[in-house]
Amino acid sequence: SRYWPILPAAGVGRRMMADRPKQYLLLQQRFLLDHTLECMLSYPDFEQVVMVLSEDDPYWPQSDFANDPRILRANGGAERCHSVLNGLAALDGLATDDDWVVVHDVARPCLRHSDLDKLFSVLVAPGAILATPTRDTMKRGVIVDSSGKVRIDHTVDRVQLWHALTPQVFRYAELRDALTTCLAQGYEVTDEASAMEYCQQFPLLVEGRADNIKVTRPEDLALAELFLTQDR
Ligand code: C5P
Repeated sequence: SRYWPILPAAGVGRRMMADRPKQYLLLQQRFLLDHTLECMLSYPDFEQVVMVLSEDDPYWPQSDFANDPRILRANGGAERCHSVLNGLAALDGLATDDDWVVVHDVARPCLRHSDLDKLFSVLVAPGAILATPTRDTMKRGVIVDSSGKVRIDHTVDRVQLWHALTPQVFRYAELRDALTTCLAQGYEVTDEASAMEYCQQFPLLVEGRADNIKVTRPEDLALAELFLTQDR
């Protein structure tokens, strides 16, 4: 079976407070998403990549990969899960039910091939995701009063807690069916794995590198730039 990367890139990135969606901010004179695409398109096991873009995206034509024949384009949806479903629909007739789809946030430009190797080396049904164990002590908070003050309720056992990263890898048909079920039943999907869990399928957590950050806030850009310049 084959691997099909799907990169949702149709978000507006409000938390970034920039003049354009974060995937088009410049990192080393290059669009953020071009770094992510570079990593994907140079990985030997990937032949084509699905890019999920806003229909009226004015920046994409300036991407280094805008005319790359290995890219299949799909249109974004209202929520991330709609975008991913549109990406899956773009593979209709190309992917078989048993092929693997590799969903990766385009906003994680520091992904390394070694983490893809690691993920695929342990991959079994129903799938696997990159994740990092939490390093900090984790507290559950409760709101104290109407001013919004929060106090500690208790310390959560962090041994069992992980940060979910991407890529997240599942069988093509299983992910499509899980996302469709969640949409139909009004379950709010925060990542693709949560849709699988909702359908009683429990993917593996595979420890990935901590530098595979999602660029979310302005200060993340400088960090991503630093990680990209380190030896790869
Ligand atoms: O906003 P957040 O960082 O959680 O978005 C994660 C990824 O999902 C981003 O790469 C973003 O472009 C994408 N996305 C999308 N369609 C949406 C919302 C988010 O493709 N409707």
